[in-house]
Amino acid sequence: METKIFDTAAEAALFTARMIADQVKSKPNSNLGVATGRTMDAIYHNLVKIAKTEKLDFSEVKAFAVDEYIGLNPDSPNSYKAYLELHLFNQLNFQAKNQFIPNVQIEDIDQACIDYENKLDEVGHIDLQLLGIGTNGHIGLNEPGSAIDSRTRIVGLTSATKNSNKSLFVDEKIPETAASIGIGTVLDSKKCLLIATGETKSEIIQRLVNGDVSSKLPASALKHHKNCLLILDKASAKLLQ
Ligand code: GLP
Repeated sequence: METKIFDTAAEAALFTARMIADQVKSKPNSNLGVATGRTMDAIYHNLVKIAKTEKLDFSEVKAFAVDEYIGLNPDSPNSYKAYLELHLFNQLNFQAKNQFIPNVQIEDIDQACIDYENKLDEVGHIDLQLLGIGTNGHIGLNEPGSAIDSRTRIVGLTSATKNSNKSLFVDEKIPETAASIGIGTVLDSKKCLLIATGETKSEIIQRLVNGDVSSKLPASALKHHKNCLLILDKASAKLLQ
């Protein structure tokens, strides 16, 4: 896994946005794997700016969310669907038919997860997968213990994840479960960008970079990915030698 370290989080975000923009320029019908979370805010903000300035066309881009909480109101502002609409889909000319999120509003969510994997198979998998990392090493919502060959499925959230994300919730309790793409799903992507910024990520980044591949640290599976770039700022990289 190649690593790039920027002086600031803002520079890391701009670089990442540039990579997404270049991906869409070179392949207008790209399949993008889109993550959520605080780290992504600045990336999407920059991407929207670049896209508007350079008149990029997202009408043929297919976007696949990495995860979605289960049990929220269908129109909840706390869902990852709402996040992606706010920061990305409604800012650019994505077509509704090209926005994919595991459908957690139906009764048979297991089937929705299978359908999601089938759709990814049908489109030929993700060209560029964006990922953040949790302080416990999760990617998507693949918590510690997730198998390297896991696929899109219902997952339970750890207390660490609930504690870290609950402050983002308005008027609803953070759910106990979510649907998340699997580690195996991520490894099928053609290119992957893992982004971590800020000092709170420095410990997990040190363990990721210096440790072995282990299901105890789900992001470590990315070391098996053929084309994965780890994008850091100085704060998240501060414990690296
Ligand atoms: C969340 C999301 C992940 C995200 C990670 C880091 O739980 N489900 O997709 O990458 O945790 O989030 P943040 O960027 O807010 O630290």
